[in-house]
Amino acid sequence: MGKLSMAASILCMALVAALATVTTISEAAVVEHTFYVHEMNVTHLCNTTKIYVVNGQFPGPTIDVTDGDTVVVHVINRLDYGLTLHWHGVRQIRSVWADGAGFVTECPIPPGGDHTYRFNVTGQVGTLWWHAHVTCLRATINGAFIVRPKNGRYPFPTPAKDVPIIIGEWWQLDLIELDRRMADGNFDDNPLSATINGKLGDLSNCSGIPEESFVLDVEPGKSYLLRVINTALFSEYYFKVAGHTFTVVGADGNYLTPYRTDMVVVAPGRGHRRAPGRRRAAGALPHGRARKPASGTRPPNSRSSCPAGWSGTRACDPTITASPYPSRSCPTSTTRCPSFYFHNNLTGLAHPDRHRVPMHVDERMFITLGLGSICRDGGTRCKRRRSNETIVVATMNNVSFHHPTTTSLLERYYDGTGKGVYTEDFPDHPPRPYNYTNRDYIPPGPLEEALEPTFKATKLRRFKYNTSVEIVFQSTALLQSDSNPMHLHGYDFFVLAQGIGNFDPKRDVKKFNYHNPQLRNTVQVPRTGWAAIRFVTDNPGMWYLHCHFEFHIVMGMATAFIVEDGPTPETSLPPPPPEYKRCSANGLMKP
Ligand SMILES: *[C@@H]1O[C@H](CO)[C@@H](O)[C@H](O)[C@H]1NC(C)=O
Ligand SMILES: *[C@@H]1O[C@H](CO)[C@@H](O)[C@H](O)[C@H]1NC(C)=O
Ligand SMILES: *[C@@H]1O[C@H](CO)[C@@H](O)[C@H](O)[C@H]1NC(C)=O
Ligand SMILES: *[C@@H]1O[C@H](CO)[C@@H](O)[C@H](O)[C@H]1NC(C)=O
Ligand SMILES: *[C@@H]1O[C@H](CO)[C@@H](O)[C@H](O)[C@H]1NC(C)=O
Ligand SMILES: *[C@@H]1O[C@H](CO)[C@@H](O)[C@H](O)[C@H]1NC(C)=O
Ligand SMILES: *[C@@H]1O[C@H](CO)[C@@H](O)[C@H](O)[C@H]1NC(C)=O
Ligand SMILES: *[C@@H]1O[C@H](CO)[C@@H](O)[C@H](O)[C@H]1NC(C)=O
Ligand SMILES: *[C@@H]1O[C@H](CO)[C@@H](O)[C@H](O)[C@H]1NC(C)=O
Repeated sequence: MGKLSMAASILCMALVAALATVTTISEAAVVEHTFYVHEMNVTHLCNTTKIYVVNGQFPGPTIDVTDGDTVVVHVINRLDYGLTLHWHGVRQIRSVWADGAGFVTECPIPPGGDHTYRFNVTGQVGTLWWHAHVTCLRATINGAFIVRPKNGRYPFPTPAKDVPIIIGEWWQLDLIELDRRMADGNFDDNPLSATINGKLGDLSNCSGIPEESFVLDVEPGKSYLLRVINTALFSEYYFKVAGHTFTVVGADGNYLTPYRTDMVVVAPGRGHRRAPGRRRAAGALPHGRARKPASGTRPPNSRSSCPAGWSGTRACDPTITASPYPSRSCPTSTTRCPSFYFHNNLTGLAHPDRHRVPMHVDERMFITLGLGSICRDGGTRCKRRRSNETIVVATMNNVSFHHPTTTSLLERYYDGTGKGVYTEDFPDHPPRPYNYTNRDYIPPGPLEEALEPTFKATKLRRFKYNTSVEIVFQSTALLQSDSNPMHLHGYDFFVLAQGIGNFDPKRDVKKFNYHNPQLRNTVQVPRTGWAAIRFVTDNPGMWYLHCHFEFHIVMGMATAFIVEDGPTPETSLPPPPPEYKRCSANGLMKP
């Protein structure tokens, strides 16, 4: 492999030195890491905060592999809390056992416990990431997961350097406490600052002493591959480099048709790769914070408008902080146009093997995304409309997902003991059609009261192997007006189209791109808009589907897909590997 991957693996080795070993077996390598998860005190803005990290690093170590490699990660949990680690975007073909979705594919690793994740990376290239998948711990327990092409060559000019840019958030509030507050229906908390590669940047200061900036040393005239990852719990980020343009070359482990832009939009849970035109840079502004439900209608946090610094200069170019809403061309005044256009303008890089959109559809689903409320007393009759007798929850087709707390869905499915834990009747359509995007459903109303009541249940959807599935996600105005980054585990899907307003099959199917759609693991469903995806169920297992906004997960905007075994051993889920540990009665992994 060329200069590029050398540089990056040196970086990786330097960071994790004694902890990572790479063993080469014929062509594919085994990339092995040991992740110690522990607490650490860190001081920012004159305040010492306890955070949860891997190997003393925030962000955590980079996992750097080549397509076809085997990854082995030994996790040693030195926290007082259980956790799982998820390999975001890794397809986990026939290895759902290693997916690391808490209570979906496994119970959390207990305090003092350890667990080994072992899986292959097959047929993917690009920037993925890994993160904790239980509670809010993913805010600081995360890192880049880079997959390099087998032959070392990209379908674009080799960049001078390859740099992960991890956009995150600095919370002064303890993350366990944040999670507890969210579970209790309190969504008013905000991070203090955005971060780039763990740095708050020199627009943040305490008593006049500026925070450290992330600095990227660059040479004029060269091009750099920036692997931009948004690890934020809530916000979509707009990423700009003053005076430069980007060529977006990939997303979610798949190549894109090169797309030139001066601004990159990254939803939580998405990894992009982009090469900026020339020269140095980086700056992120927290933008378009998803509006929180009910009590939380605070404006976006905009304190850390420019967390990154430039080589040789202190101040950021002020143009970075301007939010360029092209409001004139927006379909509605509330649409986040830059985000909509950015996502709408991306297409997949045509590839003879990868880009074959299934042209027939076996199963169609239409899934509404919104909010609702349940009664605090567990009954069905209580005062609605943000009264303190209700808890606001999030729904898909009017079901708010109840996450199991003492068992994992995969284990129950595999053992055939799912009865009493889940049902398989997740609806294919909203039970009660209404004008989904009518803004009169946003409080204070006046229409939402009749639609607001909902319920919690663990409803899953089962598919036969090799089913062609089309899903249209519809973001509704019901008690909210958020966009929803929907993430499906275990699959890449084609994004056929997106639009604003109610999906209308007669009108909108004509817009479907069957020629070169993006292949993604997360689709940003626009606020009061829709997105259509298609995929074939070629990977048996139990696959979590959820909005990647952390508070939406906690509130129940989730479900899971069961994909049955195919007709042969090669199309069936193998038994759990020896290192897989089942749940014990206390809801943690058996030691
Ligand atoms: C963090 O600081 C607190 C309060 O000073 C202390 O009790 C704790 O031991 C420290 N934790 C670590 C990991 O250093
Ligand atoms: C990974 O690939 C190797 C070689 O093809 C295979 O032997 C092994 O079973 C695979 N492991 C998993 C977890 O799928
Ligand atoms: C430090 O953090 C705590 C907890 O969030 C907060 O109450 C306090 O005001 C902060 N202090 C400063 C100086 O920002
Ligand atoms: C510190 O931050 C405040 C705003 O939070 C700003 O007005 C001030 O100029 C900053 N000071 C320095 C030295 O950067
Ligand atoms: C692409 O983005 C530009 C604005 O940046 C917009 O004018 C154009 O309509 C977009 N194209 C699509 C297909 O959305
Ligand atoms: C709910 O709100 C009412 C007034 O709006 C107040 O009297 C009551 O104490 C509150 N109940 C709880 C449980 O907070
Ligand atoms: C649905 O609501 C939107 C926004 O209020 C409105 O423009 C549209 O006419 C409504 N559609 C129907 C079929 O009532
Ligand atoms: C959701 O279901 C409840 C009954 O379980 C019903 O009262 C409510 O109107 C439904 N809401 C929607 C949006 O379908
Ligand atoms: C999947 O189904 C298609 C037809 O829908 C068929 O052509 C193909 O052979 C099937 N593949 C497998 C592995 O069953």
